[in-house]
Amino acid sequence: MKKIAVYTSGGDAPGMNAAIRAVVRTAHAKNVEIIGILNGYVGMIENKMITLAPRDMANIVQRGGTILKTGRSAEFMKPEYRAIAAENLKKAGIEGLVCIGGDGSFRGAQALLSEHKIPVIGIAGTIDNDVFGTDDTIGFDTAVNTALDAIDKIRDTADSHDRIFIVEVMGRNSGFIASAVGLAGGAEEILTAENVVAVDKIVDKLRESRTKGKSSSILITAEGQKPGRAYDLAEAIRKKSNLDAKVCILGHQQRGGSPTAHDRILASRLGSEAVAALLSGKANLMIGTLGNKIVEVPLDQVTQNEKRGDTTLIQLARILSV
Ligand code: F6P
Repeated sequence: MKKIAVYTSGGDAPGMNAAIRAVVRTAHAKNVEIIGILNGYVGMIENKMITLAPRDMANIVQRGGTILKTGRSAEFMKPEYRAIAAENLKKAGIEGLVCIGGDGSFRGAQALLSEHKIPVIGIAGTIDNDVFGTDDTIGFDTAVNTALDAIDKIRDTADSHDRIFIVEVMGRNSGFIASAVGLAGGAEEILTAENVVAVDKIVDKLRESRTKGKSSSILITAEGQKPGRAYDLAEAIRKKSNLDAKVCILGHQQRGGSPTAHDRILASRLGSEAVAALLSGKANLMIGTLGNKIVEVPLDQVTQNEKRGDTTLIQLARILSV
């Protein structure tokens, strides 16, 4: 291959820039020209492409967001728009793609490959860590640390006022952020799709904590399909008891900020491996990690399976928060 392209797609995640940098500089080291597609699939349809040189990557390894911008494209779900995108790529002489995004982005990439024979390698970039076939996704570690920083601050005020706080974290239907943040932040209970707890039980637990001398409590909830579930929970607790719970929804701050060292290292490794795989003639794969080792996982497996969370961290958090 003489020319490949890279794009970011779906929700942004800290470390995407480090991944772009790794892709561009690895391609340069292998004498391959590299194009950046702007705004994900939207830019692919609208032909928004720029040439990326190694020096364009200066000073971005530490920056959150994505210099290529990103987006979620409803149009790209339709074959006629994918045909326009494929035509744009072919006209630009692009022979292969590196897609940085989540499983929804990978589904789009698979469609491009099956309908228009454009080889693609995926790298999992999402704060949710909900991608099958990899232990880790770019941005997860940073999001967990950002949420933890906020929870540590909330803990100060919870303690000063003897209050109960319900903190809602991102992750849509997955509970990976909630479980990690809950354990690291000393939460009394962590509510996720894998750990649904009846309100009566939560009330009993909060009352018991008070009798044991605990004056403040932190509960963590994963957001679910749409943000706001923490308010419903606070209301349900209020109705069942005289306990007043304050709500804090952390929201999009979890997607921003400078990536942690962990995410920069992960992004650099995955970005570089993705280019190597593409140039060696591989396609339809995601580069991920299992037990800190780089692995190649067929995109079909990634998109047809769900990465399910378990309750191990949640159970431990419960034991440790007495
Ligand atoms: O997938 C990343 C994520 O931040 C989810 O945790 C969240 O539910 C969703 O994106 C929010 O999407 P948007 O920024 O489009 O509202």
